[in-house]
Amino acid sequence: MTQNAMTQDQMKSAVAKAAIEYITPKLEKESIVGVGTGSTANMFINELEGIKHLFDGAVASSEETAKRLQAIGVPVYELNDVNEMAVYVDGADEFDPRLNLIKGGGAALTREKIVAAVAKEFVCIVDDTKQVDILGEFPLPVEVIPMARSYVSRELAKLNAQPVYRQGVVTDNGNVIIDVHNLDITDAKGVEEKINSIVGVVTNGLFAKRNADLLLMSTSQGVETFTAK
Ligand code: A5P
Repeated sequence: MTQNAMTQDQMKSAVAKAAIEYITPKLEKESIVGVGTGSTANMFINELEGIKHLFDGAVASSEETAKRLQAIGVPVYELNDVNEMAVYVDGADEFDPRLNLIKGGGAALTREKIVAAVAKEFVCIVDDTKQVDILGEFPLPVEVIPMARSYVSRELAKLNAQPVYRQGVVTDNGNVIIDVHNLDITDAKGVEEKINSIVGVVTNGLFAKRNADLLLMSTSQGVETFTAK
């Protein structure tokens, strides 16, 4: 490591701080903030404590995130009780130049996708290990109703890809995850729709129909800002 090189954790912390700086001027007393899941989102939660007096409360994209928010004294609302969400902040496993994302490494993809759909603005926070030209090096997580696991795997294999059951993982919604390796994702929206149309699929971790509006990427040199091309 060179003298200036940062660890991945330091980069995650830097981008979490940048997200706080970005959202702070947008917050009002009645604002609801959507909060994602994962190690980068956890860094964001740590930083959120310092500005919790500036907004009303949060909606969590997982049980784990809800616990962490409650632990720092941020009120957590059910999504059904919220009419408007100013902003959603979450990490990603990969992003491309159009700010299409792969998410779901932490198995929270379905709730993440629902919260992202409601939010006026989706701010994605990543370090530079997540940047790719074409999505798909990271296996695509697909949340599946348990009884449909084998059927969905067979259908996914027809896409010239390798579905792998994520052993021992049950999502917050009581479902299972199939990770799809070596999938051709040159048409991200098309693949997102195609996989979601398989019976038994709850949703997949492609965020192309609802991509990020803004992406903050941490590098050893600082935080770069991207908007969707
Ligand atoms: C959770 O299911 C995921 O979508 C995460 O947002 C994603 O895996 C990024 O996680 P890290 O910030 O831990 O890399």
